[in-house]
Amino acid sequence: MTDGGEGASGAPQTAGGPVRHVPVMLDEVLDCLNPVSGETIIDGTFGAGGYSAAILDRGADVIAIDRDPDAIAGGAALVGASGGKLALVAGEFAELDAIARSRGYDAVDGVVLDIGVSSMQLDEAERGFSFRHDGPLDMRMGQAGLSAADVVNHADQATLTRIFGLLGEERQAPRISGAIVKARAAGPIMRTGELARLIESTIGKRPGERIHPATRAFQGLRIFINGELEQLAEGLFAAERILKPGGRLVVVTFHSLEDRIVKRFFQDRAGKAAGSRHLPQTEAAVPVFDQPQRAAIAASEAEAAANPRARSAKLRWGVRTRAPARKGDTAIFKLPRLSMEQVKPRAQTR
Ligand SMILES: C[S@@+](CC[C@H](N)C(=O)[O-])C[C@H]1O[C@@H](n2cnc3c(N)ncnc32)[C@H](O)[C@@H]1O
Repeated sequence: MTDGGEGASGAPQTAGGPVRHVPVMLDEVLDCLNPVSGETIIDGTFGAGGYSAAILDRGADVIAIDRDPDAIAGGAALVGASGGKLALVAGEFAELDAIARSRGYDAVDGVVLDIGVSSMQLDEAERGFSFRHDGPLDMRMGQAGLSAADVVNHADQATLTRIFGLLGEERQAPRISGAIVKARAAGPIMRTGELARLIESTIGKRPGERIHPATRAFQGLRIFINGELEQLAEGLFAAERILKPGGRLVVVTFHSLEDRIVKRFFQDRAGKAAGSRHLPQTEAAVPVFDQPQRAAIAASEAEAAANPRARSAKLRWGVRTRAPARKGDTAIFKLPRLSMEQVKPRAQTR
């Protein structure tokens, strides 16, 4: 399943233009996270600050993180209004434990992650995430590292096929990468609109399909550029290390690749028999999380009707036990093997 962002017809719109990011499953997040006065919660994906503001309203302190400088700048007013209760840090949630420790916290009461892109990132053409709004082919949340144009113009055909196929779950990946390699021989592909039109003319629209033909390929590129699956995997381990006993970990995801990682994490960490074959049996057998609800929670019908992005949302959560944190081994997630190193040398010689 693809992300609930643009593919699901984008963020809610108003007659006056795009609105700011509407927090998804906020009531359910608050029910599971249950923040109270005196507690400290890490919001690893600040975005427009919807979750952070609601947690502050409940009286808890918040350490909020975002890798996007625009999100950090946009949060200045909320930081100012919080009276010192909100710390907003530019960084990656894969390092959320180190970020909290650097601010003097050895343990926290809750961690929440709302994975993926924000409506602001999608709506701002210049950020280059969108096939609906033509802009430079960029897609970097953190605005550092290789851009989508670097990858599209320099990755070899096999790598492009894997990006679209494994990370975009696009069945027509080989046709798309073949068309890209042919088109870029005539000149680099530098705009999102150009790439979207190329994909559309190559694979067309599947009968009865509501999403744009470029949805999956764009999703794959975005996940690759931002190392999103690796960030999620490391972020879960980081949360395990920093949560105190009784601390809550709440994760909202928007497509099956992300949800599978969170599901596997809780199976490994909360499962009675599962454990990890990479660890000694005694260590693996002790659950580091309790899972009050094993099944994923979906958005209510009312929310899904009001906000297309909520339709693909899934929430999973767990409560930290007293057991010591285990070594984080990403092998448990069986992530697709795709590395920026495969693209870098070619992109750097341009
Ligand atoms: C879906 S939005 C979060 C929206 C937020 N919950 C709200 O209510 O406004 C996701 C945000 O997480 C940020 N983000 C994504 N991956 C990240 C990472 N690995 N580290 C830090 N921030 C990340 C994005 O830049 C984006 O601003």
